Amino acid sequence: MHHLHARLLVCHIRRARLQAHAVAIAEAVKLLDDLGAEALPGGPLGDQRGLFWLTVPAMEVDAAVSRLPRLGYTVAVDLLEPSATNGRIHTRQRRDDRRRLRWRGRDYNILRAYEEDAGEARERAPDRRTFVLDTAAGARAVRGYRGDGGDLSRRGLPVCDARLLVNLAGGARAKTLLDPFAGAGGAALEAIACARYVFTCDRDAALRFGLRALGARHYVADACCLPFRAASIEAIATEPPYDASARDVVLQAFGEMARVLTVGGRVALLTTPDQAAGLRPLAASLGLAVEVDSAINRKGMDCVALVCSKPVPGYTQGGNIGAEEQSMELKELVEILACPIDKQPVRMEENWIICSYCDAHYPIQDGIPCMLIEEAKYPNGKKNADQPAPTAS
Ligand SMILES: C[S@@+](CC[C@H](N)C(=O)[O-])C[C@H]1O[C@@H](n2cnc3c(N)ncnc32)[C@H](O)[C@@H]1O
Repeated sequence: MHHLHARLLVCHIRRARLQAHAVAIAEAVKLLDDLGAEALPGGPLGDQRGLFWLTVPAMEVDAAVSRLPRLGYTVAVDLLEPSATNGRIHTRQRRDDRRRLRWRGRDYNILRAYEEDAGEARERAPDRRTFVLDTAAGARAVRGYRGDGGDLSRRGLPVCDARLLVNLAGGARAKTLLDPFAGAGGAALEAIACARYVFTCDRDAALRFGLRALGARHYVADACCLPFRAASIEAIATEPPYDASARDVVLQAFGEMARVLTVGGRVALLTTPDQAAGLRPLAASLGLAVEVDSAINRKGMDCVALVCSKPVPGYTQGGNIGAEEQSMELKELVEILACPIDKQPVRMEENWIICSYCDAHYPIQDGIPCMLIEEAKYPNGKKNADQPAPTAS
């Protein structure tokens, strides 16, 4: 071990995601990096498949272990304790779990610090959980809802991929996290378990009760015209539709994601290889830095995990809200909303979200704002229609 006061974690990658080695490491590092975790190029038991190694400062081990159940692509983690601590019975350790190994001339006890509860993971899976769907006969709970089979509406992100996205986006420490293509809420559900405010958008109004029931702050909205102010969201985790016809929607929505991200914010997407090919140059032109760009095979389906961040200096397009404003408490959630047409501030009046600039009235239906441009009403006529909107803030 390269540092006496560091502890080594031996991480076991999920069997079904063994090929996604680099992404699994990136996920774990992102989850633990504020605790000083670092990936090692190699470690003990290196002859076994599907392992990677992290070091964590000894004083942060408990904090790190408490976060491990959030991992998606790692199913078990062993903690190596130098055997000098041998006499002590560790609370994380059951005596019968104890194993030993020798590495680089030192003896270690191997403690199982985390192991996924397979039963619990299965219950969270899209085909097991219930989702409230708005149907012609009213709202009803549907078990195993996987979408209506349409090209742009297939749903049901596996739990491990949902956790991966949330962790890669930095969701565990984010105050605000958004999924703009929320579907049946796979990513939202995992985000709600760790981020403070989780926002979801989906064009399909039938999903609104289900997404709200999960605990998200949901808006019926188009990902290509997001109803949020510039630089208002710290983390975005999303799986856009995979169908070839969705390519332009995904590229357009990516521009919107870049706009609403805070400086230092991060977007994690699971896309098709073709979408990723379009997103890479777009990220560069939007001033985003690509942090992770890795192929994943999901049961025969080729995907790409793409993570981009908005660097601290430099990105000015669309204007950023000030640091002071970014760090403030979100007293009123409406403060981060913007009109999807001109990105200007909005206010809430009775059952409407109203744009202060163009006076578009967006209806709040069953307590859920519908921020689709085509649903906007203009009871007083359109205002400022002949003027260019001021620079959005
Ligand atoms: C691949 S699914 C997301 C699946 C989601 N990760 C889950 O676990 O259910 C894509 C979702 O995007 C939505 N969608 C498609 N085009 C959209 C758009 N332009 N704006 C917002 N949502 C859109 C569809 O209604 C669908 O629910």
